[in-house]
Amino acid sequence: MNTIFFIGQIIGIIPVSAILLFVLAKLFSRHCRSHMKDGYGYGVLITGCDSGFGHQLAQCLDHKGFVVFAGCLSPGGAGAQSLARQSSSNLKILKLDVTSDEDVERAKKMVQDNLPEKGLWAVVNNAGISDWAEIEWSTIEDFRNMVNVNLFGCIRTSITFLPLVRAAKGRMVYVSSIFAFFNCLNMGAYSVSKRGLEAFADCLRVEMASFGVKVSIIQPGNFGRATNILKMKTGLDIWEKLHKNRRQIFNRQYINLANEYFLSTCKTGFKDADMVIDALLHAVMSAQPKHRYLLVSVMDRFFFQLFPFLPTVLTDAVFSLSSMYAKRKEMLYAK
Ligand SMILES: NC(=O)c1ccc[n+]([C@@H]2O[C@H](COP(=O)([O-])OP(=O)(O)OC[C@H]3O[C@@H](n4cnc5c(N)ncnc54)[C@H](OP(=O)(O)O)[C@@H]3O)[C@@H](O)[C@H]2O)c1
Repeated sequence: MNTIFFIGQIIGIIPVSAILLFVLAKLFSRHCRSHMKDGYGYGVLITGCDSGFGHQLAQCLDHKGFVVFAGCLSPGGAGAQSLARQSSSNLKILKLDVTSDEDVERAKKMVQDNLPEKGLWAVVNNAGISDWAEIEWSTIEDFRNMVNVNLFGCIRTSITFLPLVRAAKGRMVYVSSIFAFFNCLNMGAYSVSKRGLEAFADCLRVEMASFGVKVSIIQPGNFGRATNILKMKTGLDIWEKLHKNRRQIFNRQYINLANEYFLSTCKTGFKDADMVIDALLHAVMSAQPKHRYLLVSVMDRFFFQLFPFLPTVLTDAVFSLSSMYAKRKEMLYAK
């Protein structure tokens, strides 16, 4: 009887011990590979370093020892110059307009000529522009400008630099936005550009997995006060651009209200970019970077995590229930 009991205990212990050993081994290997300690010997290219997230990330990665290739739209401008002053001689300012084939090719040559011993570890596709307008207030040019920078700029940069990143089995990082999946009034052109960007990054991740290159998407919420992304405009700016036929529908009173609403929403955003910079550092330096980094307040996290999985009838209802949407409905066509 005792022997049977003893054998039973052994049989029970074996799978439990195996599971424990497996979990411990996983934790140990994760701990050993959790982060690069520093970036010595590695290069990183960041686009859009004149201001905002790109500017701050360039400084952080410079402090961590990376050779930073800081792409700037205006290398002679105040942002690029202050970045150069505050950084080590390892940080190189490049003229890089992501909409220009020549700039991107010239940047590649400059990176290749100055490549550190461990190669180009990461490209952070950060350069971007933003604007807000209803679709009917926009022209095809407005959409084209947005997509040229936010989407085609990233695609151009990625295709050019992928061979270098593949050689280092490194990282491709894309700064997207919650507006890639959060369909909202006034963000049509921006959403088109960021949703396209995420489609590109998702496809690239699948293709790059077999080469050991990891791809991450950063999805910041409202950090308008922490960077220079907001281009302020007045109700009059919008009104003057509006076609006369549309002025009868989107009357002046509504345009002013929409402008005030937008400005007040922007003022509720995060004051500093720490959360975004931490996520970017994790995407570049962690052994296990995430596919997506959703960067919103703790209060908003559940809503934004759930939103992409809701049926369209519910996601549309979220907007139709908002006070702004109701006011809009009342004010359209009004004199
Ligand atoms: N801040 C937010 O709330 C927020 C939220 C979600 C996503 N994002 C995204 O975060 C990224 C960084 O934006 P940010 O908030 O840090 O704003 P930012 O301060 O305006 O930084 C954007 C940078 O991109 C540069 N840039 C603009 N057009 C370019 C071009 N054609 N080629 C190369 N660089 C160009 C800008 O140069 P100039 O300064 O000379 O214009 C600027 O240095 C963008 O992709 C943006 O869409 C921001």
